[in-house]
Amino acid sequence: MKKKVISMMLCAVMTAAMVTGCGNKEAAPAESADAAEETEAPAESTDAAEETEAPAESADAAEETESEAEAPTGGTLVMATNAYFEPYEYYEGDQVVGIDAEMAAAVAEKLGMELEIEDMEFDSIIPAVNSGKADMGVAGMTVTEDRLVNVNFSKPYTTATQVIIVQENSEITGKADLSGKKIGVQLGTTGDIFASDIEGADIEQYNKGMDAVQALANGMIDAVIIDNEPAKQFVSKAEGLKILEEEFITEEYAIAFAKDNEELLEKVNAALDELTADGTIQAIIDKYITAE
Ligand code: ARG
Repeated sequence: MKKKVISMMLCAVMTAAMVTGCGNKEAAPAESADAAEETEAPAESTDAAEETEAPAESADAAEETESEAEAPTGGTLVMATNAYFEPYEYYEGDQVVGIDAEMAAAVAEKLGMELEIEDMEFDSIIPAVNSGKADMGVAGMTVTEDRLVNVNFSKPYTTATQVIIVQENSEITGKADLSGKKIGVQLGTTGDIFASDIEGADIEQYNKGMDAVQALANGMIDAVIIDNEPAKQFVSKAEGLKILEEEFITEEYAIAFAKDNEELLEKVNAALDELTADGTIQAIIDKYITAE
């Protein structure tokens, strides 16, 4: 009996590895069907991974859920994000994890909905929310006057600051030294907006914050302006960079909604209130950000 089990297991392993027939007469049809399923599963999850990783394809996926996005009661809650912003949203394998992802999942659970995450360029998030491709934008997104013209924001769930990253031996010691310098930013972010106010600065816009940081490490630019927590993550992954002490702007992060979707905004605000009161939000933040 033992032998039979082992040979069946071997058969399954071999099938998975090589898709060869085992010719084992003892294997019951049901069991061999299981084995076939096992071999199919990896292929399917690879497809799924591709869909979440490629921005172009995830746009398609968003379209598919459009009908659900229009009626966000029960069903699916589609969150638009830009998942290159650790510790708020980033990939762990083919999964988007981080503070925003977990917080959104907790909100969805409160609303009895299933969270679906759509990864896209940061500057596509507000258009996605406004076109109904997504129900909400959760992306370490700062509440600004300009954005408030186009979207509504939930209650803020955390604060952040903009910081300056430079090479370790840089002469730049603060914002005052940035005029006339080459500054890297993530396209469409508040760092981008602040950099554009600096006199004579030459602004290089990158689709991902880490690309700006890499350009700085390679000596192609003089500084990067970006949010403090991702700055720490990016600097730890590059060589020879430091974050200046001076934090020159404090911001609040909140969830963005289409102007005409006040119903969902109110539900999410109520969920955020509960999740704040019971300590869930703070626990999620503490999981990803260790106090200094
Ligand atoms: N807080 C900044 C902003 O709202 C940067 C956010 C970038 N977020 C992201 N997921 N890439 O503009």
